[in-house]
Amino acid sequence: MKKTAQKITAAILCASMAASLAACGTNAAPSGTSSENKPASSNKGGSKTVGIAMPTKALERWNRDGEYLKGQFENAGYKVELKYSDNDTNQQNNDIQGMIADGVNLLLIAAIDGNTLSQTLDDAKKANIPVVAYDRLIMNTDAVSYYVSFDNYTVGKLQGEFVRDQLDLDNADGSFNIEFTAGDPADNNAGYFFNGAYDALKSYIDSGKLVIPSGKKVFEQVATPGWSTDTALENMQNTLASYYSDGTVLDVALCSNDSTALGVAQAIKSDYAGDNTPIVTGQDGDIANLRNIVDGVQTMTVYKNVSDEAGVTLEVSKQILEGNSPDGSLISSLSAEATYDTESYNNGVKTVPSYLLVPYVITKDSLQKLVDTGLYKWDSSNKYLESTASTT
Ligand code: BGC
Repeated sequence: MKKTAQKITAAILCASMAASLAACGTNAAPSGTSSENKPASSNKGGSKTVGIAMPTKALERWNRDGEYLKGQFENAGYKVELKYSDNDTNQQNNDIQGMIADGVNLLLIAAIDGNTLSQTLDDAKKANIPVVAYDRLIMNTDAVSYYVSFDNYTVGKLQGEFVRDQLDLDNADGSFNIEFTAGDPADNNAGYFFNGAYDALKSYIDSGKLVIPSGKKVFEQVATPGWSTDTALENMQNTLASYYSDGTVLDVALCSNDSTALGVAQAIKSDYAGDNTPIVTGQDGDIANLRNIVDGVQTMTVYKNVSDEAGVTLEVSKQILEGNSPDGSLISSLSAEATYDTESYNNGVKTVPSYLLVPYVITKDSLQKLVDTGLYKWDSSNKYLESTASTT
C-alpha cells in the first residue's frame, strides 16, 4: 500500500537561519554590520564592490554561503551586492546584468545552470569585471578567471567508500541492493559527485556484489533537476513501487546531496515495506539532515565547510582586486586546507585555475566535529545540532 508522503520544503527549514547567519564563523561580520554603515576609507577593501550571485534561498546551503560571503567580504571592507535568483536562469542573467550595470568590481557566481551565462559574462568581460565561479563551474566562456570549490569528485568518492566500508563489501557474503539519486544535470558538479561515488563502487557492481534492481545506473537516469527534494521523493517512491513492492530489500540509497537525501529518506519512511534501515548518504550537513542522522534515517553526510569556502574565495578575490594573478603560491597563506588545480576543470573553452577545499565524512558518531568548527552547537536537548547563529 502506498502512503501519501508528506512534501518537504527545504526552504522552511532554513528560512529562520538565513536572517541570522551573517554572524556565523570566526571571520564573519557582526550582525547589523553592513556596507552602508561602514566608512569606505577605514579598510583595505576601500570603495570596491563585490557582486555575489547565489542560485536560490530554497536550499539551505546557499543561505549559508551567501551570508558567510557577505559577512566576510564586508568585514574585509568591501561593499557587497548579494542576489538570489530563485533557481531561475533568466533571473540570474538579469541579476548579474544588474550588477554589471551597477559597476561592481568583481563577480562571484554560483551558477544555476552553468551553460546559460556565456553572453552575460561576455558583457562582464567587456566591462573589465573579473569573474570567479563559486562552487559550480561556469561553462563555455573564457570570461571566468578562477574557480573556488571543493574537490567534487572526492565528495562522491567518500560516499561510495563509506558504503563499501559499511557493508564490508570486500568480505561480506551475498549481495546487496543499491539505488542512486544524483543531482541537477544543469550543475556541472552533479556529474563529478555521481562519478566519484559510482567509480568507488563500480567493481562491486560489475562483480554482482552490489545489485541495482531498478537498473538505473547512468547519471541521466537518476538525475534530479534543481536538486529538488520533492522530485527526489517522487522518483524514489516510483522506484520503490516498481522494484521493491515484492519485498526486495533495499540496502543503500546513495544520494548525492542532502536536499535529495531528505526526499529519499521520506520516501523510504512512507513507501518502503522492508524491516531494515537502508544506508542513506548525503552531502552538505544541512540542519534537517543532521537531525535525520541523529534519528537514524540518514547515515552520513559529506561535510563541506562553506565558511572556509567563503574565506578562500575572499583571499582569491582580494588578490584579483589588487591586480594580481593568484596561483599555487597562495595556498600556504590560506586559512583552510585547499589544493590549487590547473588541470581538472575545463569549461569547454579553457581550463579554469581552481582552488579546491577538502570535504570530509560526518556520521552520528562524529557530529561533535561540526561543533568544533564553531558553526554549530548542541541544542537545548543536547541531542540535535543547530547553527550557532540561529539564536542570536
Ligand atoms: C553543491 C552542493 C549542493 C547542490 C545543491 C551543488 O552545486 O556543490 O553542495 O548540495 O549544489 O544545492
